[in-house]
Amino acid sequence: MAGSVMAPSVSICLALCVLIFVAPFLIKPLEARGNFGRLPGKPPQRTASDGICASSVHVYGYKCEEHDVVTQDGYILNMQRIPEGRAGSGAGTGSGGKRQPVLIQHGILVDGMSWLLNPADQNLPLILADQGFDVWMGNTRGTRFSRRHRYLKPSQKPFWNWTWDELVSYDLPAMFDHIHGLTGQKIHYLGHSLGTLIGFASFSEKGLVDKVRSAAMLSPIAYLSHMTTVIGAIAAKSFIAEATAILGLAEFNPKSGLVGGLIKAICLKAGVDCYDLLSVITGKNCCLNASTIDLFLANEPQSTSTKNMIHLSQTVRDKQLRKYNYGSSDRNIKHYGQATPPAYNISAIPHDLPLFFSYGGLDCLADVKDVEFLLDQFKFHDVNKMNVQFVKDYAHADFIMGVTAKDVVYNQVATFFKRQV
Ligand SMILES: *[C@@H]1O[C@H](CO)[C@@H](O)[C@H](O)[C@H]1NC(C)=O
Ligand SMILES: *[C@@H]1O[C@H](CO)[C@@H](O)[C@H](O)[C@H]1NC(C)=O
Ligand SMILES: *[C@@H]1O[C@H](CO)[C@@H](O)[C@H](O)[C@H]1NC(C)=O
Repeated sequence: MAGSVMAPSVSICLALCVLIFVAPFLIKPLEARGNFGRLPGKPPQRTASDGICASSVHVYGYKCEEHDVVTQDGYILNMQRIPEGRAGSGAGTGSGGKRQPVLIQHGILVDGMSWLLNPADQNLPLILADQGFDVWMGNTRGTRFSRRHRYLKPSQKPFWNWTWDELVSYDLPAMFDHIHGLTGQKIHYLGHSLGTLIGFASFSEKGLVDKVRSAAMLSPIAYLSHMTTVIGAIAAKSFIAEATAILGLAEFNPKSGLVGGLIKAICLKAGVDCYDLLSVITGKNCCLNASTIDLFLANEPQSTSTKNMIHLSQTVRDKQLRKYNYGSSDRNIKHYGQATPPAYNISAIPHDLPLFFSYGGLDCLADVKDVEFLLDQFKFHDVNKMNVQFVKDYAHADFIMGVTAKDVVYNQVATFFKRQV
């Protein structure tokens, strides 16, 4: 078992890319083989049919509240609140013993439950609750508990007419307003992966900065041009054309046969033998807990919109953080009043916003070169507000599911948050 639990290596990096981007094509064959370094025939344990609090928080003996918030464009988003630690443990972190709110925002193709798959003492939300924070988890539009809208249904195409631009302009503001309205306090933001990108974009437009106390960015992404070659090649070569042809601007459901077909077509065109990657993830060098991977596969991946995936592949190709590109000057002018999509200016993030970065040496999505380029955009940031941690052995998923993440990252995050009074 020793080899299957720790020893991070390049394979986990690939495995994660695969899980996150190519999972659809792979999960079926994996299930057919009944093998992912797990005991054959073992049924998936908890799934979240009763909601995330019931399935993944109450079971650990923590209080948890389900909240719904409505975005300005009509989406109904589900959030969880863990108001205090186990048995009320953990003195309040703020003045007068009040608990400071933290919003934890997941990445692409997963939902808030991805933070709760390890045993309780390894899970970020529960660790922060025990440390005295009022912990909130977001679930962006399209994920299983946020597939609701005032008048659109997920079966209708217009329900999926959005990209991460809308997560920036609607989802985050709705969540921040809700938490701020209930607590009257500024919020610590914690993002992973796409959760960091929408944070950067949002804070650069200054819409939420008066409600943010600090931000911790794990596996930060804003530039994606150095992403590991396989995925980079796939995205750059044919994602946009193929996705539009096969899926249209509708739901991108990684579990559906349509998306499976799309990935196959793309792999074929890009000359990548995706099937071969199977041997990489079923290999024994995985650094994640095998039980956790089981739970991950039982609960994720979650849907997003095809338009969002297209926007992300534009980010890979353009080497710039811009709004969605409608594909022609005319159409961009119609939407933005200019021929090219407006850029998000990361240097415009207020220089006194306390920031904590943690990035991994083996991360294939938040590639070290891209993160260094991102950090360079903060060269005028107040030096004493910048905290940067580099974890040589970590890949993308280690920041959400790594068995050592508590010691390596989460305790440092909690200490950072506590310093921002
Ligand atoms: C892996 O997860 C299982 C089930 O949650 C747990 O019993 C075990 O202690 C975990 N292993 C490690 C090394 O954390
Ligand atoms: C999608 O939304 C844009 C605005 O963001 C709008 O201009 C366009 O007409 C919408 N398309 C559909 C098919 O609803
Ligand atoms: C980005 O923001 C910085 C800081 O406000 C400013 O100096 C710079 O000119 C901006 N860049 C662009 C392209 O707008």
